[in-house]
Amino acid sequence: MASFALLITSLLVVWTVLSREPPVVHALDSGVAKLPVLGYNTWNAYHCDINETVVLQAAQLMVSLGLADVGYKHVNIDDCYAEKNRSASGDIVADKERFAAGMNDLTDKIHAMGLKAGIYSDSGWFTCQLYPGSYQNEARDAKLFQDWGFDYLKFDNCAVPYDAIIREGIVGKYKRMADAIADLAKSSGKPPLIFSLCEWGEEQPWLWARRFGQSWRTTGDISPDWGSIASIINQNSFIAWASDFYGHNDMDILEIGNGGLTHDEAKTHFTAWALMKSPLLIGTDLSTISDADLAILKNTELLALSQDPVVGTGVAPFRWGINPDWVSNSTHPAQFWSGESQNGTVFMLINTLDEPADLFFSLTESPWIRAGRQYAVRDLWTHTANGTAVRNFTARGVPPHGVAALLLTDAGDEPPDVGPPCARREWCIDRNGTLAPGA
Ligand code: GAL
Repeated sequence: MASFALLITSLLVVWTVLSREPPVVHALDSGVAKLPVLGYNTWNAYHCDINETVVLQAAQLMVSLGLADVGYKHVNIDDCYAEKNRSASGDIVADKERFAAGMNDLTDKIHAMGLKAGIYSDSGWFTCQLYPGSYQNEARDAKLFQDWGFDYLKFDNCAVPYDAIIREGIVGKYKRMADAIADLAKSSGKPPLIFSLCEWGEEQPWLWARRFGQSWRTTGDISPDWGSIASIINQNSFIAWASDFYGHNDMDILEIGNGGLTHDEAKTHFTAWALMKSPLLIGTDLSTISDADLAILKNTELLALSQDPVVGTGVAPFRWGINPDWVSNSTHPAQFWSGESQNGTVFMLINTLDEPADLFFSLTESPWIRAGRQYAVRDLWTHTANGTAVRNFTARGVPPHGVAALLLTDAGDEPPDVGPPCARREWCIDRNGTLAPGA
């Protein structure tokens, strides 16, 4: 009897302890957009010159060019789709001529192609092109966008109400729509709209936007030239830590296919955006895209790293290179980057010079590399094995503004005769307390 009581007591203790174990919840996991969103956005190619034909053509081309197959699923409409005035009852109205068949017809067709649809609004009185913004209409607009069939909302930062009206800073301004989206998900039982905050970096969205949405713009608008690409990479090199599952630094719409970038610059642009886990939104007229640009967008090895289901973080600099470490330089951003992935350590080496360069690094400069091991090197642009790296690696002849993207996988202990005893010689010490030779 006593032992039975003891058994019951121990079971109770075990149960109490186990039931106190906190459930595994990700507070910021709203269930959508765990990984960077891949798709299309109308702004860079068309600006305000959009209509349902343009949007549907982009969707069809995403399918027929094989972009949907490699993961680009979102077709996102940007600014200028609306009438200038709300309806008498207060709703945003889709432009009656340019979207004559209506938004439901459009999203039905997009969904029928196996794609998802995105829409755009603004946290202030107006959008940046002075169409209706959502301030004080957040719940109504979120509901309308969901009723129209959209899955995603980009939310801009123009036309800010006076302080005496808003009495909120940037966080409160964006919280209004985040709350409306969360309330709507609760009341409708549908997944929340993916929320893409378009604040341009002045108010450090990487510090707060993860509470509200799945991505946040980190810079002003991109343009199709190397100066813009280099400066966005530079700015994002200091905030790489902010991207992880369910929340991503948005480096802006891709400019690949819009002229103004050499082939090597376009490859660097795509590599940096993919490996830093930015959303990848194609921004060109797909009916005229070249095979070379299409091949860049369809680099499935880089896309697989962008969409890594196991490791959420992206690459970060381990050495700035030409520039001293941790110094901002918009023309010469950090050159030596690495990060974890489910299949090995990823390296991104950028040649910021105007002439070809050899880019050298010691493997253990990256925190993700194990000392005393050797690594098989895979080139993520030529898609070939590139030998075995012991202690260090040199990417030779990287073209001006070009990139090397490498995946290093552990290939066992390094050969025994490799010297010195530590690749990092400072404080390299024998167990008897003497400094190693050369340390
Ligand atoms: C800007 C935004 C662009 C585009 C544009 C539309 O604020 O950064 O990506 O959305 O507004 O007016």
